[in-house]
Amino acid sequence: MPQVSKKESLLYKQLEKVIESKSDLRNPLIEVLREAQEIFGYLPMEVQTFIAEKMNLPIAHIYGVVTFYNFFSMTPRGKNIVNVCTGTACYVKGAPRLIQMLEEELDIKMGETTKDELFTLTSVRCVGACSLAPVFVIGEETYGRVDNRDKLKEILHQYRS
Ligand code: FES
Repeated sequence: MPQVSKKESLLYKQLEKVIESKSDLRNPLIEVLREAQEIFGYLPMEVQTFIAEKMNLPIAHIYGVVTFYNFFSMTPRGKNIVNVCTGTACYVKGAPRLIQMLEEELDIKMGETTKDELFTLTSVRCVGACSLAPVFVIGEETYGRVDNRDKLKEILHQYRS
């Protein structure tokens, strides 16, 4: 276990239990990483190294998986994850422009988290609401046809207050 605070040490113990509980699965890594991200909020190198040691896997393999899937994050994530759909319908109907507006309004780039840790901006594939394209999702809420800045500002404001 890396040099950690008491609180973190409890988190690592929790993760160790998860790893043990998944040991019977044929391919437990994705499940372990998913739960590790829930426990720590993200997957820093120390956590990946811990998993590599406990699961007896090369760290390069863990890193490869973490960086391959965009639902895994190596940096702390914001309270609200803003998932912009970049599926075909949304792309055609203006997802690039929506991403640009979100990046400007939040003052971050895709994949980053705002300084106040309120928002993280990520992209996803089709969320099944193509008729509302372009679409983005925050938590359980889906926002469609957001094609102007005022509408976007209004939505983000709800999460700021
Ligand atoms: S492509 Fe965006 S919801 Fe289907």
